[in-house]
Amino acid sequence: MLDRGLVVILLGPPGVGKGTQGLRLAAVFGWERLVTGDLLRAARQEGTEVGRRAGRYMDEGELVPDDVMVALFEERMAGLPDGPGILLDGFPRTVAQAEALACAFSRPVDAVVLLKASEDVLVRRISGRRSCATCGCIYNIYFDPPGSEGVCDGCGEVLTHREDDTAETVRRRLRVYVEQTEPLIDYYGARGEVLRVDGEGSPDEVQAGLEASLASHFGASA
Ligand code: AP5
Repeated sequence: MLDRGLVVILLGPPGVGKGTQGLRLAAVFGWERLVTGDLLRAARQEGTEVGRRAGRYMDEGELVPDDVMVALFEERMAGLPDGPGILLDGFPRTVAQAEALACAFSRPVDAVVLLKASEDVLVRRISGRRSCATCGCIYNIYFDPPGSEGVCDGCGEVLTHREDDTAETVRRRLRVYVEQTEPLIDYYGARGEVLRVDGEGSPDEVQAGLEASLASHFGASA
């Protein structure tokens, strides 16, 4: 059903489950993931120029400037191996980034998926998130705790609480999402269908909703 070389965008507010579901969809469909938040955090850890420029914006819950993000996206895209598809998590986040993405591909993206959840759910999920900086596994102390407290089940590393997951920064990230990223729903809506999936259920329920929505979309457009 899913053809080689699909480009799928996963949109949604902070904490809705893009990373969690991106890992699952990539495993099911064999897609490569391009996760700009992870790329930026790695750049900061390595102390690169991009990491230094991005750091203060991330800590304040603001978006990193478009020129930095577009350059990072293009560099990363060029290094991705061929495969059945690419899942974009965190890019584009502004209309300017969407325009850059449109220039990078000779055809429209194949699907845009919007995960939705209420603000109460988002704040609770973000406050409980713990992440593994080594293997990328994501946990939640309320909903999906690791087997041993504070330690990654996958690789045994100590889990971390992201620096931008403070209550104040989360509120700013949500406002920035509404102001700068939500306009993409209309942008892509004007160019085709935006698949809306309920992100409030359990991870398995959300995954089932995503797979059903994608199957219906690709089945219908095949
Ligand atoms: P980024 O890392 O992309 O953060 P985000 O979009 O704010 O998204 P999150 O990672 O917070 O949430 P998520 O939706 O992935 O949720 P998750 O699966 O982890 O970006 C960080 C920063 O980088 C930005 O603020 C910005 O500064 C910068 N940046 C990145 N890209 C940029 C761009 N293109 N342009 C400019 N700046 C950019 O889940 C959250 C928690 O909930 C976890 O604990 C998880 O276990 C739990 N959970 C998930 N699903 C469920 C469920 N169904 N039920 C119960 N718990 C669940």
